[in-house]
Amino acid sequence: MTDPLTPLAGKQILLGVTGGIAVYKSVELLRLLKKAGAGVDVVMTEAARQFVGKTTFEVLSENPVITDLWADSHASVAHIDVASRCDAAVIAPATANCIAKMAHGIADDALTTTFLAVTSPVMLCPSMNTDMYQNIRVQRNLDILEKDGVYILDPDDGVLACKTVGAGRLPEPWFIFDRICRMLSSKDFTGKSVLVSAGPTLEPIDPVRYVSNHSSGKMGYAIARAAEMRGAAVTLVTGPVSLDPPAGVETVHVQTCQDMADAMLSKMDGADIIIKVAAVADFRPKKQESVKIKKTSGQDEMILTLVQNPDILQRMGQLKRPDQFLVGFAAETNDLAANARKKIQKKNLDMIAANLVGAADSGFKADTNKVTLFFKDGSQKEIGLMDKQAVAHILLDAILVQVS
Ligand code: CTP
Repeated sequence: MTDPLTPLAGKQILLGVTGGIAVYKSVELLRLLKKAGAGVDVVMTEAARQFVGKTTFEVLSENPVITDLWADSHASVAHIDVASRCDAAVIAPATANCIAKMAHGIADDALTTTFLAVTSPVMLCPSMNTDMYQNIRVQRNLDILEKDGVYILDPDDGVLACKTVGAGRLPEPWFIFDRICRMLSSKDFTGKSVLVSAGPTLEPIDPVRYVSNHSSGKMGYAIARAAEMRGAAVTLVTGPVSLDPPAGVETVHVQTCQDMADAMLSKMDGADIIIKVAAVADFRPKKQESVKIKKTSGQDEMILTLVQNPDILQRMGQLKRPDQFLVGFAAETNDLAANARKKIQKKNLDMIAANLVGAADSGFKADTNKVTLFFKDGSQKEIGLMDKQAVAHILLDAILVQVS
């Protein structure tokens, strides 16, 4: 069984490398796979070796690299060994030539022959000039492969080595790595739709100033990422943060509490599980000035009148259907259990994840968190101090027990 936190530990990955300028990114991908505890077998085409020599891959993978079926007496069976022992296989970069051969079952070199023998999940990462990528023949071949069950990772847009601007760049190694993790994660949230809110809200005073809080969005983003990895259809409604949206997640960017309320309520109907992590500003300036407020000479103080924002979670608790599971977060400075339980009642929640804010290793900006889960039935579960991604998975495990 795959551990959701370390889906690559102890797994064997087959990495196919074909001849494109992006081969240098495959070296970094290999490093990431090894660092995550995977064993890696590499198979390279002759063209790939024009860009990076096989020694680099051999040293980093700590395994012989297969380049030629006839180069040594073991190779003709070695390629079958690596094909049958892999848990997942990826070709990055995948050229138009390799894609065409794969689509039609042609096995005329070490790489295509090896991949024809693979029975585990396969991912292809096309990378080439934009016109080549958009060519109907390449697209047709990609369609064939997709229908055969091969996972095609779309290339990024950008400036290509040939100076063209458009689709065709190999995605960054961390992104390919993230998608390989997803391929290997257990899909216990398949068929479930998860709606998450994250980050702070920002309430304008005038065009240059606002009221907000220190929320980094890390906890909500970790939950959205974990749910997507586990097969859920995920929507993330996020206030302004400096994080990249998680892959495969529909991300809606908002600023104010009112924007967040509109987005969350419009998405609520389609959600099975709603997790409200966002640190919503409880109050907003009564009046938003359209021009910058100027100080006048002799002015010692300024009084800003704030009015209460709508409580989004409480509204969702009122609207919630019996088949929906509603989770809140509570950031407290004292009386954690009593305050958390009060919020379960007041907002009609199924569960609340509460943490004490103020400690350096827990709360807003930290990468770690220490939360206690409180359930509607009065039970509770303490989660020790750990990485927010780990907290996310434990929280999802607890939700799964309740909803299944
Ligand atoms: N919340 C919300 N809308 C608000 C305020 C809070 O949806 N206007 C949600 C948060 O996203 C969180 C939960 O309510 O899931 C608890 O937020 P918290 O700030 O801890 O509590 P409050 O209800 O605001 O109460 P207080 O600030 O008095 O502790």
